[in-house]
Amino acid sequence: MQGWIIPPPKKPTKNKLEFESERTAKVRWLVRYGYLKSGPIKEALLKVPREDFIPDDYRDYAYLEVPLPLPGERATISCPHSYPLFYEPLGLAQGHRFLEIGLGSGYGTAVAREVVGAEGLVVSVEIDPITFEFARQNLDAAGYRDIVLVQGDGGLGYPELSPYDRISVTAACRAIPPPLTEQLAIRGRLIAPVFKDAGQDLVVLERGAQGIQKRKVSEVLYVSLRGIYG
Ligand SMILES: C[S@@+](CC[C@H](N)C(=O)[O-])C[C@H]1O[C@@H](n2cnc3c(N)ncnc32)[C@H](O)[C@@H]1O
Repeated sequence: MQGWIIPPPKKPTKNKLEFESERTAKVRWLVRYGYLKSGPIKEALLKVPREDFIPDDYRDYAYLEVPLPLPGERATISCPHSYPLFYEPLGLAQGHRFLEIGLGSGYGTAVAREVVGAEGLVVSVEIDPITFEFARQNLDAAGYRDIVLVQGDGGLGYPELSPYDRISVTAACRAIPPPLTEQLAIRGRLIAPVFKDAGQDLVVLERGAQGIQKRKVSEVLYVSLRGIYG
């Protein structure tokens, strides 16, 4: 996690009420700084307890703006502002069929599940078997049992349940993996960090009837995509 200063591991001390108040303060901060606008994304961020998706030794830092280490190879839970940063330009909304590449802790997956609601669908793919198992247990403990969890190379997407209205890639790629573009519905949107020169651009791609449009949202810093498109 080059570029980020990760706080030292320590035994957790905070209680549920302290986390709840940090969560509310964080959501207010995200609104104030313009990251968060949509009502359903705001409700989801207020509802999902981020601290329950973080290993014990880093749990007290749940609402700090840093990515935190997860079990597995090079896996992290992204910093709190990453979720509206991705889901707002994606226009994630009720009823969407959503595919996530990079399950990580399962936190972003749970937030997406809340946003798309009962008529929507959430599928998430994780390449690292240890990270996958950590997320699976977190989601199960939090009561999210209707998410399709897949262990494998997300660069290949998950054609079995395609097309998807929205796709989020949470690891940085050299170029957007072609199978993901193919699994995007017409008028669907995909967001991904893409390597550019020495950094990464967060790019939104929209599939219109006439072809694909791309735009840059911001500059970001994410762990690299693994697998055949890594
Ligand atoms: C920044 S983390 C994801 C954070 C996650 N959204 C969360 O809320 O915790 C990126 C994840 O992508 C996973 N990853 C990397 N390459 C992948 C691939 N080809 N397919 C699926 N997952 C991949 C990593 O193992 C890591 O767990």
